[in-house]
Amino acid sequence: MPELDWIKGFALKMGEGTEEIPWTERYLSRMKNMYADGDACREILEKQDPLIYRFHELGAPEEDGVLSFGITELMPGKVGNEYYMTKGHFHKKLMTSEIYLCLSGSGMLMLENMEGDWKVIPMKEMEAVYVPAGYAHRSINTGNEVLRMFFVYGADAGHDYNTIETKGFRHLVTEQDKETAVIENPAWQAASE
Ligand code: F6R
Ligand code: ZN
Repeated sequence: MPELDWIKGFALKMGEGTEEIPWTERYLSRMKNMYADGDACREILEKQDPLIYRFHELGAPEEDGVLSFGITELMPGKVGNEYYMTKGHFHKKLMTSEIYLCLSGSGMLMLENMEGDWKVIPMKEMEAVYVPAGYAHRSINTGNEVLRMFFVYGADAGHDYNTIETKGFRHLVTEQDKETAVIENPAWQAASE
């Protein structure tokens, strides 16, 4: 029989978030090369190192047939005019999908596959977004409050961060004239030449 304590402990507290399961925290210093405006990023880091997001999951065994689920909390804010975002990743087992459910706040989910097909999907409270197999995904907080998301995916999917860390996504989500604007990522074009 598998050990079920991890499922029970998390399921009971999911509505409020749980303090018992450790959060993985990502501070700006850990993703400073991912934002387009390097100067703005350095300026912030000279004064402070803000928490950009944190997430936790229940530590499900990374096995075929097991689902892993958890919560991400993405803070509101910008680096230059680019909204706070997660690192984003492909799944190592590329053809695995995922579901995100926005619990509170508002933002976007950036999707992009290896062939360059991409889409930005708005996330609003209590709306779910499907991440199709083969698509890298990054969440972006375009609102003024914490963007809180529930996620679930096959526990053996694995995470490939390197592809996005080196190439980036083809598009950025920015604020222009107080409006949210999706623009081409010049750094991606340079990296792919
Ligand atoms: C899991 C998943 C999410 C993210 C989390 C943090 O496959 O997509 O749980 O892991 O939102 O984002 P990353 O992993 O991009 O730092
Ligand atoms: Zn994922």
